[in-house]
Amino acid sequence: MAKIVVTRWIPDDAVKLLAEAGDVVVSPADRPLTPDELHEFVAGADAVVGMLHDRLDGALADAAGPGLKVVANVAVGYDNVDVPALAARGIVVTNTPGVLTDATADLAFGLLLAVTRRLGEGERLLRSRTPWSFHLGFLLGSGLQGKTLGIVGYGQIGRAVAKRAEAFGMEIVHSGRSNRGSVPFEELLARSDVVSLHCPLTPETRHLIDAAALRAMKPGAYLVNTTRGPVVDEAALADALEAGEIAGAALDVFEKEPEVEPRLLGRDDVVLSPHLGSATVETRTAMAVLAARNVVAVLAGRTPLTEVKP
Ligand code: DGY
Repeated sequence: MAKIVVTRWIPDDAVKLLAEAGDVVVSPADRPLTPDELHEFVAGADAVVGMLHDRLDGALADAAGPGLKVVANVAVGYDNVDVPALAARGIVVTNTPGVLTDATADLAFGLLLAVTRRLGEGERLLRSRTPWSFHLGFLLGSGLQGKTLGIVGYGQIGRAVAKRAEAFGMEIVHSGRSNRGSVPFEELLARSDVVSLHCPLTPETRHLIDAAALRAMKPGAYLVNTTRGPVVDEAALADALEAGEIAGAALDVFEKEPEVEPRLLGRDDVVLSPHLGSATVETRTAMAVLAARNVVAVLAGRTPLTEVKP
């Protein structure tokens, strides 16, 4: 029997599928395993189903041993996976593209609305029982009609966000690798009223939004990040907000996740959510099931559905 290890809870539908291909061991810990725990946990595994907080690399493969055939990351992003190191050992890597596109685009747009319409501020005001009354100048936000949304990274999720923004009457500009109609990144920053990040985290995109990029944004613009935290230099973002260079930010992901830059926590012009982009029952089930199907395929000697090539 193949040994399939799963580093954190996954929905039952996925466990059932995996159980058809081998003995399934799910980590009982309700937290990410430490690197040492992870290495101990994967020993003897034929397949590892891992999460975005796990470092899935050559050391993990060595700890698993020579039987390891597949590493299935339950996420579309795979910056936590050392794909070349695993490929060099003949291990197949898979991710979960497609199934989380709409959920993530919905959340990105929800955050965009929340930050531009000051929903967090309003909620905090009510919950703190602060006296208030309707008046024409009260908690005014910024409308979206006719404004420009700059989408950095125009893949499946970036395009799905564009569709939503068009329905709200926004103009779209986008930048990204080799996309038809893309504008240079600097132009996007200069033109956009809201910048939404949808590029993967790579060495090139780490701190793409740094102090210079923030200064290059329109005064009064907003930043939305639902991709990976390190794409934004959080200290520079806090500086830019303190200096009034931009109007606000909405963040679902963090540079040193799960930590959040303390200066951002105290700001009313920042909306925060704890990495919820794909967090719907339907989407998380679809992600885990896709990861399971990939494992089942590889263990049966078939081509997986969504392989990540080195
Ligand atoms: C991903 O899939 O990369 C998201 O960050 C989590 O769904």
